[in-house]
Amino acid sequence: MKIKFHAIALTWAVESVVTQHLEEQLVYLRRIDDHMAVAAVVSILEDEQHHRDVGDSEGGTKNMLYAPLRWAVRLFTTTVIRFGMR
Ligand SMILES: [Fe+2]
Repeated sequence: MKIKFHAIALTWAVESVVTQHLEEQLVYLRRIDDHMAVAAVVSILEDEQHHRDVGDSEGGTKNMLYAPLRWAVRLFTTTVIRFGMR
């Protein structure tokens, strides 16, 4: 059962960063009128939002003991995305 809570907390942490990143990318892509890229990102975003919401509804954000883990995973995920954008 402990592994399940770890996985749920990790899922929420990763997906919350990914969805935020994709939403920011959508703002940029809409500004430059890249309709094909917008459509591709929208289709990905819906999946990632679903994964994030499952992580939340299954308790991934509830357990305060996992707060440091969520923080670290969010930071790591943000770093990987920023590194990938260079
Ligand atoms: Fe996902």
